[in-house]
Amino acid sequence: MKTITVHASQTYPIWIAQGLLAQCGELLRERTKAQTAAVITDDNVDKLYGKTVVSSLKQNGFRVVKMVFPHGESSKCSKTLNDIYNFLCENSITRTDCLVALGGGVVGDITGFAAATFLRGLDYLQIPTSLLAQVDSSVGGKTAIDLPGGKNLVGAFKQPVAVLCDPAVLQTLPDQFLADGMGEVIKYGMIRDAALFSLLEQNDLKTVTEHMEEIIAACIDIKRQVVENDEFDTGERMILNFGHTLGHAVESYYHYETYTHGSAVAAGMCMMTKKTCSPELYQRLCRCVKAYGLPASVPAPMTELAQLCGNDKKRASAALRFIVCETVGNAQIRSMPFSEFAAWIGGTL
Ligand code: GLY
Repeated sequence: MKTITVHASQTYPIWIAQGLLAQCGELLRERTKAQTAAVITDDNVDKLYGKTVVSSLKQNGFRVVKMVFPHGESSKCSKTLNDIYNFLCENSITRTDCLVALGGGVVGDITGFAAATFLRGLDYLQIPTSLLAQVDSSVGGKTAIDLPGGKNLVGAFKQPVAVLCDPAVLQTLPDQFLADGMGEVIKYGMIRDAALFSLLEQNDLKTVTEHMEEIIAACIDIKRQVVENDEFDTGERMILNFGHTLGHAVESYYHYETYTHGSAVAAGMCMMTKKTCSPELYQRLCRCVKAYGLPASVPAPMTELAQLCGNDKKRASAALRFIVCETVGNAQIRSMPFSEFAAWIGGTL
């Protein structure tokens, strides 16, 4: 088993190994004295892994209660959060008990937020079951729910007591979900790790799965370094948003329907690289994202995407920060007044 230790406001391990899911009870026991483990998951994940997790927790002396909600982004809302709070009350969960987030980004984010707020905070374990959650959302303590006005608008920083990452669970993911996570994996190569990027550009989705454990560990270790330097996202942590300024615009333009997050980030990285880097680097990045079934561009007009890059409540003069990688492995934060950025990226400047 590989262990990566995060030294943030709370120090915690990220365990990575094939087949770890069945050892979650034993491993969690090392990190908590909780009597009850409240497992929060969605219907898809529950069918696949609910039994394994619950029985491992029980075998290690936990009283286990489980709440299952419907899968999908629409569950990351105040109604589900209220249902979780009520479930925790009904099951007499105390501040010394522990939540277990078993699932992808939606489950991890909402369970983390419940852990940050219920009884003013209790421990939680992250068990991410999608590639995207393993390499990104389960690490670093960002928790949130969506509001009708936008994604992740209510949240808190709350580090987990541990993250348990079992690459074997990715085998049950349909290719499109794996590709979705690869958008973020390619991002890590671009912002911090030229060797990782080389490995990715020499492979495709089929062949890279043989190296999945080391790839996941490499991504998590980059995220660890960034989070340790800037846990509360006031500086360096923004480099994790490479591809996201345009990516969020793409998701929003298509009403979160046509492009998954990873696809939108892939297109966002390529569009930003086209504008700011050499044609050679742009071609390399496009080839790489396409090899994983991800788009290098979208049909939406750039002038319209540009308008969606800033929060529309933002004054035109407010600065917009965005990330540029002039060479592979080197990310820089740039800043421009929003109106100037929109004209520059939209091609009218
Ligand atoms: N997903 C970006 C971050 O954790 O900051």
